[in-house]
Amino acid sequence: MKAVAVTKFEGTPELMELPKPTPGPGEILVHLGAASVNPYDWKIMNGILDGKMPHVFPLVLGVDGAGVVEAVGSGVSRFTVDDSVFGQFIHAPVGIGTYAEYVVAPESLAIAQRPRGMYNDQAAVVPTAGMTALVALDQLALTKGQSVLIIGAAGGVGSFAVQIGSNAGVLTLAAARPAHRDFLHKLGASRFLDSTSSHLAEDVRIGYPDGVDALLDLAQTGPEFERTTALVRDGGVIASTRGAVTEALLTSRGLRGVNVDMNPKTELLDRLTAMYSTGNLRIPVEQKIPLAAVPDAVARIREGGNRGKIAITI
Ligand SMILES: NC(=O)c1ccc[n+]([C@@H]2O[C@H](COP(=O)([O-])OP(=O)(O)OC[C@H]3O[C@@H](n4cnc5c(N)ncnc54)[C@H](OP(=O)(O)O)[C@@H]3O)[C@@H](O)[C@H]2O)c1
Repeated sequence: MKAVAVTKFEGTPELMELPKPTPGPGEILVHLGAASVNPYDWKIMNGILDGKMPHVFPLVLGVDGAGVVEAVGSGVSRFTVDDSVFGQFIHAPVGIGTYAEYVVAPESLAIAQRPRGMYNDQAAVVPTAGMTALVALDQLALTKGQSVLIIGAAGGVGSFAVQIGSNAGVLTLAAARPAHRDFLHKLGASRFLDSTSSHLAEDVRIGYPDGVDALLDLAQTGPEFERTTALVRDGGVIASTRGAVTEALLTSRGLRGVNVDMNPKTELLDRLTAMYSTGNLRIPVEQKIPLAAVPDAVARIREGGNRGKIAITI
């Protein structure tokens, strides 16, 4: 099968011909129609899970995918051949990824039936970003009419978080590059803020002189993140998907803090599916690239500036 893989940590992704995997007990073999790109893919490639999970090389990249179950191993009960599925397929050993024509994975992972009307390239972009946005908003626990400042709002997690927050009646202040203004308004952002402007803090203070109720930061760490937490009201809540919340930030003003650590679950995919099926979730596929183009696209993708999600068609 064709797959995009690296032969060592921090290696250069290459299109390779690798053996088609076969499902073991409790596993399913999925013939993938699409995968998607997540920052997690590069982090895994650079060894973020080294020492925490076993790896295999060539390490096939990619954690998210969508396709059709082609075979099932003994004991599989949740899926049958020809089921259309999507999900997050990462499991031990790391390296049996979704930038490939086929993937095998335990059926117990966060894998769900692909809803009617959702194409493979749409379904493939949902799992990691969508589940993370859902978990982050659950943990913020905001109520209708409360406000959240989202930094990095036009990226993968942000483009789901803006929608999920807005659908719940939360006022979403979406900060991103000016080129992403229309995109974010279409996703339901209450207000767009230019994240490249030196006036961002003043712009927030105009509407919220005492601070917003919450910060969801998908981009910043260290001093940048710390400065932005000053825009949250006393007793508000701050959340980071990059581990930027520290104890020291919480003590002074009675803030509650959350370092989001998304634990993938099929129930989360089912909640996203329900939102889609009721017309309450737009799937933010902004680019599609074929599998063969991934190696050349890697450097460009990693530079940033992307909007929404990139789907890989297989
Ligand atoms: N903890 C978890 O469980 C978990 C789960 C999923 C994701 N994550 C992490 O969460 C982060 C976001 O994920 P994602 O999938 O949304 O990534 P993404 O699609 O790359 O989006 C990140 C967004 O942040 C923007 N950005 C980057 N630096 C910025 C800065 N200094 N100020 C303002 N905006 C900035 C980017 O815009 P430009 O590219 O235009 O600069 C981009 O729109 C990643 O680090 C990812 O690894 C963590």
